[in-house]
Formats: sequence, C-alpha cells, structure tokens
Amino acid sequence: MAILKIARMGHPVLRMRAEEIPDPTAPDILALAGHMIDTLIDIDGMGLAAPQVHVPQRLVIFRSPQPADEEGGGEREWSGLTVLANPFVEAIGDEMIEGWEGCLSVPGLRGLVTRPAHIRYGGVTPKGETIEREVEGYHAKVVQHEFDHLDGILYTERMTDMTKLIFETESRYQHQSHDDEDEAEQEVAE
Ligand code: NI
Repeated sequence: MAILKIARMGHPVLRMRAEEIPDPTAPDILALAGHMIDTLIDIDGMGLAAPQVHVPQRLVIFRSPQPADEEGGGEREWSGLTVLANPFVEAIGDEMIEGWEGCLSVPGLRGLVTRPAHIRYGGVTPKGETIEREVEGYHAKVVQHEFDHLDGILYTERMTDMTKLIFETESRYQHQSHDDEDEAEQEVAE
C-alpha cells in the first residue's frame, strides 16, 4: 500500500476523459484501489478519482453511509467506502440543490455548486459486483463531484457565480444562518 501524490488543477490528467476499465476485477485495479484508499484516509478526504492520482482510468472511491444510517435517516455517519469502476450517474427529476464543495486537486478553495438533488448511480466493484443506488443530498453531491473527475471536469466549471469561489480560510463569512452552518460542517475535500 502506498500514499499517492495528488494531481492539482493545471495538470493535464485532470482534463482528460478517463478510459473505461476492461476488467474491474484485475489485480492492478485492486492494487490501485488500495493505494487510493490509503491516500484518501491519509488526507482525510471524502472521495478520490483515479485521475487525481495521475491514473486516467474510470475508477472512483468515496465514503458512503452505512445502511443502518440510511434507515435511521442520518447522513452523518460516513464510515463506509465505495469503490466503483466504470460508473454511471443520471439525475432523477428536476430538483437542484446548492452546496459548497472543495477538491483535493484545488487545495485551499471552496466553491458554491448547484447540482441535481436526486440521482441514480452505479458501477462495478473490484469484486465484480454491480452496484446501483438511488440517493440524494450530500451523498448525491459527492458522487457527482467524483464522477465529474472521470470526464475531466472540476467543480469550478460547474459554478455559475464565481463570486462564490473563496479561500476555505474565509468560508466563515459565507455561513450566517444555522442551516448554513450545518452545511459548513459537511464541507470536506473531495
Ligand atoms: Ni475533486
């Protein structure tokens, strides 16, 4: 296992469309996933896409809620990790949701991004299992952020109001209501 170097905005690998993985169960994919998990844990992030570690392949990892948490209605216990190759995502309905995002490849910054609130997503795990889920809220935001990396898209390109691109050290000025503070607690690097 290893801790991998994170590509930062400006590196061409973050602008490419990553390639499909012919065999998600191949040993090299399992090894890459393991290194990405080590890296994510070391940096205490929420998610990581393979292009962010200089590998232009369609592999993402992200923290996801445990089933027990989903049943309890809580979205705060993010102990589970999902590893997905060749993922897909599609919006369910027209509802959009606004949220602050950060990115390990754009260190030090935060931006306000609007994305579909409800999504269906899926993919294949390194064990060869097919996953399909319908999610909303923060889970949906993290998934869309990570999957965008596979198409060479950074969250800054999803922003419509560039006055909402800020340094994270100044983010306290953006949160004035209690609801916003709750959201602020969920700001994490992706
Ligand atoms: Ni990111």
